[in-house]
Amino acid sequence: MISARENEILTRVGADTPMGKMMRRYWLPVCTSEQLPKPDSDPLRVRLLGERFVAFRDTSGRPGMLEEYCMHRRASLALGRVEENGIRCLYHGWKFGVDGSIQETPNHCDDRFRQRLRAPAFPVREAGGMVWAYIGPADREPPFQKYEFFEGPGENRLVFRINTPANYLQLYEGGTDSSHVGILHCNMANPEWKTRPDNAPALNDYLSVALANGDNAPDMEIENTEYGFHYAAKREGPRSEDGRETSSVRVTAVILPTCRIIPLTQYQFFVFEVPQDDTRTSTYIVAHGPKPFDRDKMKVVLGLNNERLWNEKDCEYRATEENLFGQDRSNMDVAWSGLSGLVPEDASIGVSMGPIVERHKEMLVAGDAAVVRLRERLLDSLRRHEAGQDPLGLTIADYSKVRSLADTNVPDGERWQSLLPHNLGPSEEKRVLAPV
Ligand code: FES
Ligand SMILES: [Fe+2]
Repeated sequence: MISARENEILTRVGADTPMGKMMRRYWLPVCTSEQLPKPDSDPLRVRLLGERFVAFRDTSGRPGMLEEYCMHRRASLALGRVEENGIRCLYHGWKFGVDGSIQETPNHCDDRFRQRLRAPAFPVREAGGMVWAYIGPADREPPFQKYEFFEGPGENRLVFRINTPANYLQLYEGGTDSSHVGILHCNMANPEWKTRPDNAPALNDYLSVALANGDNAPDMEIENTEYGFHYAAKREGPRSEDGRETSSVRVTAVILPTCRIIPLTQYQFFVFEVPQDDTRTSTYIVAHGPKPFDRDKMKVVLGLNNERLWNEKDCEYRATEENLFGQDRSNMDVAWSGLSGLVPEDASIGVSMGPIVERHKEMLVAGDAAVVRLRERLLDSLRRHEAGQDPLGLTIADYSKVRSLADTNVPDGERWQSLLPHNLGPSEEKRVLAPV
């Protein structure tokens, strides 16, 4: 159990908080590429770590991110016009480029004035179907971190964004909590529960969430890595061909400060829990595999096909206490949770806990070990940062070989880690040092 004080430290992300300062040291996703669909498309409000920004794509297709409030007299640039390689404030027409250059100031005809100043703009990259930004100290920009889903054809990747009214940590903890999978998600994951005859045949390629068996109290083996940790949930497996006992091993990798890699047999999910502020989170789910995906089928698998609860346009998750989370209690004999799929199940549980979980009131058990480790590693990273060191994993430029592992039978006595040889992190000499 952690104290109320530690809970505050772990969950508050504003600019003056320890966690907020640490998170600002990393590149973070700020929107999907689809949210800025083409040159000069509509600008997008971005909420990140308690601050407000505006993202836009200029005429050349370059994404940019500025502070939301215009540097002149603070009108919101999200109302602005995106045109001729810049964004123009509606109030007095000041126009800014993606790099913060001031291109025009129609109510002040002094070129030297605009050339001397710059609007607050932030480094932005686009990769993996997402736009990423760095809002930390300008002189400490870390390497831009590469993930496996940056590679391969775009049709082998799907990106979803879900904005959920809950603190990031309770959602992140849900993603490292193997013991809930066979229970909350038992429709999809628990082979001892009835399957969904209505969906299953059409979704065969996508329904690889299933656990090896109905053991809901897996043994947990957790190992720290340079960037966080990875863990194996071990359930009893069948005897191997040579008669040895095996464990069914399912490995999840957790990359601080927001990411986890969830294993499936045909593909992987990369999930990022990015705080908008203390009580709202943008969850980015990236499905990535060796074959093209059908977005509509994946929406059914994820439970994102109910437009009353979520839509592609604003990405807001609308299931709340007021609408009873869209739970259909009349159907719970078939659909165990009564909620409509993986994402509604995870998000509804996260929201149901209240905006910030009161962790000092919990009663933890052995199955919560990975959740406890997540908190410990975040606190480890915070301590390093407070002591003037880089937070965990910050200088690793390439995560593309870090893997999760879907349920795999490993003979007892063999190390599951040998199936994931790159998960510990690069050796010292391969690390990329952050510019100082
Ligand atoms: S407030 Fe934006 S141009 Fe004046
Ligand atoms: Fe879950």
